[in-house]
Amino acid sequence: MSDTIAIFASARRNGNTGKFIDWIGNELDIEIIDLSGKNISAYDYEHKNLDDDFIPLMNQLLDYEKIIFVTPVYWFAASAQMKVFIDRTSDFLDLEELKDMGQRLRNKSGYIVCTSTSNEAAPSFLNSFKDTFEYLGMNYGGHVHANCENDYSPGEYIEDVERFVKLFK
Ligand SMILES: Cc1cc2nc3c(=O)[nH]c(=O)nc-3n(C[C@H](O)[C@H](O)[C@H](O)COP(=O)(O)O)c2cc1C
Repeated sequence: MSDTIAIFASARRNGNTGKFIDWIGNELDIEIIDLSGKNISAYDYEHKNLDDDFIPLMNQLLDYEKIIFVTPVYWFAASAQMKVFIDRTSDFLDLEELKDMGQRLRNKSGYIVCTSTSNEAAPSFLNSFKDTFEYLGMNYGGHVHANCENDYSPGEYIEDVERFVKLFK
């Protein structure tokens, strides 16, 4: 079994980010989980949503050492669906019975696969992931970005993808 899994969240499955992670996922031979197929609701201080898909999904992710977060840059940040998922990790901090799950994230490595219409992923976007990984005790493994200003053009990112895939070998 691979030690790597990807979680994907975009407003469309087969858009720029979806195509980019399909290529990378194929190179790495990993599973890609689409958050749009999951029922995960926004963080709730009263935790009335504990029965949704968040905890089963987290249990699945915790079997892997390397987790790739896949999202387009929307307004200098992650997609709303990805943000909802990340917000829900606060459940681990709030609830005694979930603290062990939060602890299990420690020392795992987080990676980012992203697309935007800029030369580079926005620093605010990357830093929000890096700071979140650090807060959760995870290592930052690296990122790869595709500039889709002129549509998704895979020929332009071959070297970047090769460099990224090597991080997992
Ligand atoms: C709501 C929205 C916000 C966006 N915000 C940014 C942005 O802040 N910076 C940027 O470079 N591109 C931005 N873009 C462009 C997307 O990041 C880019 O088109 C990306 O490749 C779309 O991926 P997708 O096909 O998976 O949605 C935005 C696009 C949308 C729809």
